[in-house]
Amino acid sequence: MTLTSEEIRKRFLHFFEKRGHAILPSVSLVPENDPSALFTTAGVQPLVPYILQGSHPQGRRLASVQKCVRTTDIDEVGDKTHATFFEMLGNWSIGDYFKEDAIAWSYELLTNADEGFGLDPKRLYVTVYEGDDESPRDTESVEFWKKAGVPEDRIYFLGESNFWSAGENGPCGPSTEMFYDLTQEGLGDLTPEEFKKADNDQQVVEIWNDVFMEYRKENGRVVEKLPQKNVDTGSGLERLMAVLQNKESIFETDVFRDLMQAAGDLSQDPRAQRIIADHIRSATFLIGDGVLPSNTDAGYILRRLLRRAIVKTTAKNLSAEEVSDLVGAVTKVYKSSYPELTEKQGNIEQVIKDEAAKFEKTLQQGLKKLEKIEGDISGQDAFLLFATYGFPIEMTAELAQERGISIDREGFEKELLEHQEKSRTASAGKFRGGLGGGGEMEVKYHTATHLLNAALQRVLGEHVQQKGSNITEERLRFDFSHSEKLTDEQKQHVEKLINTWIQEDLPVTCKETTVEEAKAEGAQGVFESKYGDKVTVYSVGDGETVASKEICGGPHVNRTGELTGTFRIKKEESASAGVRRIKAVLE
Ligand code: SER
Repeated sequence: MTLTSEEIRKRFLHFFEKRGHAILPSVSLVPENDPSALFTTAGVQPLVPYILQGSHPQGRRLASVQKCVRTTDIDEVGDKTHATFFEMLGNWSIGDYFKEDAIAWSYELLTNADEGFGLDPKRLYVTVYEGDDESPRDTESVEFWKKAGVPEDRIYFLGESNFWSAGENGPCGPSTEMFYDLTQEGLGDLTPEEFKKADNDQQVVEIWNDVFMEYRKENGRVVEKLPQKNVDTGSGLERLMAVLQNKESIFETDVFRDLMQAAGDLSQDPRAQRIIADHIRSATFLIGDGVLPSNTDAGYILRRLLRRAIVKTTAKNLSAEEVSDLVGAVTKVYKSSYPELTEKQGNIEQVIKDEAAKFEKTLQQGLKKLEKIEGDISGQDAFLLFATYGFPIEMTAELAQERGISIDREGFEKELLEHQEKSRTASAGKFRGGLGGGGEMEVKYHTATHLLNAALQRVLGEHVQQKGSNITEERLRFDFSHSEKLTDEQKQHVEKLINTWIQEDLPVTCKETTVEEAKAEGAQGVFESKYGDKVTVYSVGDGETVASKEICGGPHVNRTGELTGTFRIKKEESASAGVRRIKAVLE
């Protein structure tokens, strides 16, 4: 059966809707309220809190098609089955059905031609968990597979790969995975060893994973059974498409057709074409969800994807900006599933053009510099390529590998750290200058600045770092690393935290300590001093409420109650790429 991507999504959702599942929309690629993850990497991710709490407002049976970005496999992109962006088809049971129904439905959807995908059962293989001291051998799933129609000799016991966790802290459990034979001639029965080899050689491909979430992990260890049993399944749309459209790789399926053709104009190398197509597709979706290129976090991953795609282009007389021409091929194929991309197409192209123009200025010189390096790449050279020519370190490492030379990553990290400390010292200088005469109002704003820094970290995440500050008698101004505009909700949340701390009249205390101790205590601030030097750390709050802890020269108020008035954000804007600026008052 040849089904288009559109039909596959519809069939999947319809199948589960008919079986009592509520259909959830795809959430953003940038997780809300979850500073621990840069991207949405699985359909289950936005559902984890509901699984832990044991209920979801839309019921116990849920299904979705979720857009995902995973960069852990970035080096594999270019083979038959890996991509940095993919869509995950998933169905969930929150304390409702368990192994028997999940397995029966997986089998039915895959093999039934009327309601499902009509796949050939003779090309299907499944794996189950072999067990360890935390979770037993999953013989139950074997029985349910046999009942569904899979012969016992097509069921293989595997270890670690068949135990899935939603992070180091979260729900987890044994999983059972379904594989499909991609070869023309058909592999037939396979011994466990032959099956593992066929998997390694990409002759069979994993198309679906059913996780039976009955445990909870804490710091990477299973600590308890969840009060109820849950199911979390995930099937990669791109891989299903390859199978259903009878293609040898995901790059020949309908979502990639136009993109690969366009990538063909940018490079002659087939693997490079796949990388360009994949990276521009991911970049299009990421920018569509509000990510902008920057040097930190999600913005850095986006920058890496775009610059890597540009470096992979080999066509002569090409301007780097031409990679933005591929955006249209992405928006077109996703027009009905993700209409927001079409709406934002112009903006997405512009962001890519701007980034390409920035990179183009230094790209050729950087490549020349790289060619001139004799022997291996030192930490200093790698840092020069990064800081002066804009080469992401991972990209330099890859270029080194292509040339058969090594790169001193540790040396690079050291250079980077030194550089960051220098620039922090510079902004600290500004900070002090900004303090002016230390008048009464300025001192209040100075303490308020510490509270703002702490509140932003709580609301936006740990990536927030002070990039500059300026205080007058009328207001404070604070620059910090973050690449997106703050939503009204985020601003209100920040204001509320600060006003609560003010109302609580928390004590502000100061102590002298060493840089090392300050760091160990989690103090924020400028670590400019040498090893062993004394620094002062200001803490706001004590006991249960430590609102902020920061290395700083002062002066500060004695208690937060002295910050008379209400803290209000008056303006929030971009200061430079990846840096936001807030102006705020006490009024
Ligand atoms: N969460 C599991 C996975 O990512 C199943 O959805 O494979």
